[in-house]
Amino acid sequence: MTEPVGPSTHVEPDLARKSRLARNGGPKAIKSPLPPMYPGGMRIGAEEEEAVLDVLRSKRLFRYYGPYSGASRVDEFEKAFAADMNTDHAVAVSSGTAALVCGLAALGLGPGDEVIIPAYTWIASAGAAMAVGAVPILAEIDESLTLDVADVESKINSRTKAIMPVHMRGAPCQMQRIAELAQSRGLKVLEDVAQAIGGSFRGQRLGSIGDVGAFSFQFNKIITCGEGGAAITSDAEIYQRIVMYHDVAGGMPNRIPSDKILNGLNFRMSELHGAIMLVQLRRLDGLLADLRQRKNTLKCAIQDVAKRKGVSFRALNDADGDTATSLVFFAPNEIRAFRIAEALNAEGVNASLLYQPGRVDYHVYAHWIPVMEKRTWSENGGPWRWHGRDVEYSRDMCPRSLDLLGRAVHIDISPDMNAVNVEELADAVLKVLDALL
Ligand SMILES: Cc1ncc(COP(=O)(O)O)c(C=O)c1O
Repeated sequence: MTEPVGPSTHVEPDLARKSRLARNGGPKAIKSPLPPMYPGGMRIGAEEEEAVLDVLRSKRLFRYYGPYSGASRVDEFEKAFAADMNTDHAVAVSSGTAALVCGLAALGLGPGDEVIIPAYTWIASAGAAMAVGAVPILAEIDESLTLDVADVESKINSRTKAIMPVHMRGAPCQMQRIAELAQSRGLKVLEDVAQAIGGSFRGQRLGSIGDVGAFSFQFNKIITCGEGGAAITSDAEIYQRIVMYHDVAGGMPNRIPSDKILNGLNFRMSELHGAIMLVQLRRLDGLLADLRQRKNTLKCAIQDVAKRKGVSFRALNDADGDTATSLVFFAPNEIRAFRIAEALNAEGVNASLLYQPGRVDYHVYAHWIPVMEKRTWSENGGPWRWHGRDVEYSRDMCPRSLDLLGRAVHIDISPDMNAVNVEELADAVLKVLDALL
């Protein structure tokens, strides 16, 4: 981590408690190493191996044909995924970014349109908007680390066509207010569910609430095939458009009628990936139950001390719908947050700060140099050139988001932690908060 600059507001705590910290030569709180944070990835086992071998042995690696006919794994996965997400259609694609691009294209976004995205999201949110020729507009996040709906509202103008709520770090956005706002202003909603697969808002699966839901199955997502994604929708026409965009051949072999066809690209998923995803999807409910149990135990163990020390947890728009992949709390200021994260790391906890000005992290808009500087692939300019209204960006344009993220300490929750791991993790947090606040 990069040491933050600025006047120290640090009050010297009790020296005895401070000297017990591993950072100062005391014993580490974590005695048994914590499992790596790849939920579905760490559960890859005999079933995934068998599923891949089956595809290899069949020599049917391509979704639409091969030397032997039979059911396509990608096809099966799409049906199972749509059913699991409680919607009508799913299109499996090559990445989460591809799902976002297909979703935006299917919703009809293009040059002259604006998409409102959160200041805290993976840079792919902005990149997807730019890829279809639209202009990304940044909105602040609130204590839930997801879109601040009031700020979204203030950013809407006649060019706004869509809102992209991103369910960051496993937890849902305020989907009721976003859906109401979108409906009242005639806007589309594309949910980015890359980090919250299986999460929900008031009982509805994330991704099934907006017009399109986009998922990533990249390796550190909740379920994974290394690289992959999916776009879901309950709208038959949007589905047809996603199919066209993700397949340059128009969704072969059931080609779209010629009066409807538009040219797409190739974001198809291979049968190998489809086979893995079919197995991983069956693991989803078990993963979520394990994540939630561990996070709940940890939070219960530390919440009283956290409260006494003036540390607040990230707000949850729907605690029941949280996938529980992370625990985030806010320190009183960025210097305390830095010291806490640093001390936790010394104890053996993989804790991080969600924003540090000096450490590039593409989850925070201030580090999106290509967007901040409106860099484009073509010398003729990018989406901004054709937009018809000046849109400027600056690193300090969302100060509330930077303040929250700069004070946010993030701890991964692994579904594979055993009871001892959770206990030691809680001990580490208690020890550090006690010594430093
Ligand atoms: C919030 C968010 N959106 C989109 C993506 C893009 O997914 P992929 O890496 O599969 O393209 C990611 C991936 O990290 C993400 O975290």
